[in-house]
Amino acid sequence: MAIIRSSLALCAMVLVSTHGHAQERRDIFSDPQNLKVLPEDISRAELRATMRSFAIDLGLTCASCHVGEDDQSIFEYDFAADDKAMKLIARDMISMVEDINKTVRKSDRDEGHEFVTVNCVTCHRGQDKPRMIQDVLAEVYDDEGIEATISKYTELRDQFYGGFTFDFSADRLGLFAQSLAATASEDAMRVHNLNVELNPHAGAAYSGRGQASQRAGDLKSALADYKNAVALDPNFAFLGQVITSLEAQLAED
Ligand code: HEC
Ligand code: HEC
Repeated sequence: MAIIRSSLALCAMVLVSTHGHAQERRDIFSDPQNLKVLPEDISRAELRATMRSFAIDLGLTCASCHVGEDDQSIFEYDFAADDKAMKLIARDMISMVEDINKTVRKSDRDEGHEFVTVNCVTCHRGQDKPRMIQDVLAEVYDDEGIEATISKYTELRDQFYGGFTFDFSADRLGLFAQSLAATASEDAMRVHNLNVELNPHAGAAYSGRGQASQRAGDLKSALADYKNAVALDPNFAFLGQVITSLEAQLAED
């Protein structure tokens, strides 16, 4: 993030003197030489804003797509060059986003309907590869197992919590735990425990773990979790019936 900020600061500094005493004013955005998908008559302000948002939307720096180094002055970059694969992918993406917005606007709506505009950030949310937390976790789990998966989750949460890159909700983590339940119920329980530990005020964390306990035949634990879920979140009031029947079952034993 620090790197992005510093390159953006550089971008803000667009007027410089070059060539010794010639005092030529140079602006990297004012005279683009190699635009293939953005409109050729794009204003310098718009081109600058577009590039800044590419960097922020994808969590990248100018040097990720352009020929230059992060620690180099922005004026030494070759922005027109097409050497970097990321720039070419970005071009395809710009065309794709245009197509998407055309399609969105094709649908028949009431007069005056304001269409939502899809943008890079709609999918990317600050990442170069717009992945969902459950996909990241599933990949780590398949390759390295449960310990590494739990470490990965905690690490990502420390880094990204409060932002919009990943969904750290108890619902999402509970769904991931459920996805493990069929083949690895102990690992699933580890994830349910993590969910309760990280989200002690979320009814969903308790109801998810309660279901796992109930399936495993641990009715006492299930009952305690269901009671917590109902107490914390009125959306789980429907568990009232299950609670009554579990209480009856436990009283019989
Ligand atoms: C995700 C990739 C990506 C990032 C990050 C990015 N750019 Fe670009 N940039 C492009 C693409 C693609 C084009 C060409 C668009 C076209 O062909 O219409 C371009 C074009 C430009 C141009 C016009 C070059 C020319 O002469 O044709 C400038 C100047 C520029 N970018 C500056 C920047 C700056 C400064 C940053 C950092 C804030 C930045 N870009 C970040 C992808 C990126
Ligand atoms: C509809 C969703 C969507 C939108 C909108 C979108 N992208 Fe992407 N983008 C993707 C997906 C999915 C990938 C990952 C492709 C893959 O599996 O490698 C990706 C990958 C990329 C990559 C390559 C990243 C890497 O590390 O390999 C770049 C660069 C990129 N997008 C730029 C952009 C830019 C710039 C915009 C806005 C003009 C944009 N994208 C809008 C879905 C989107």
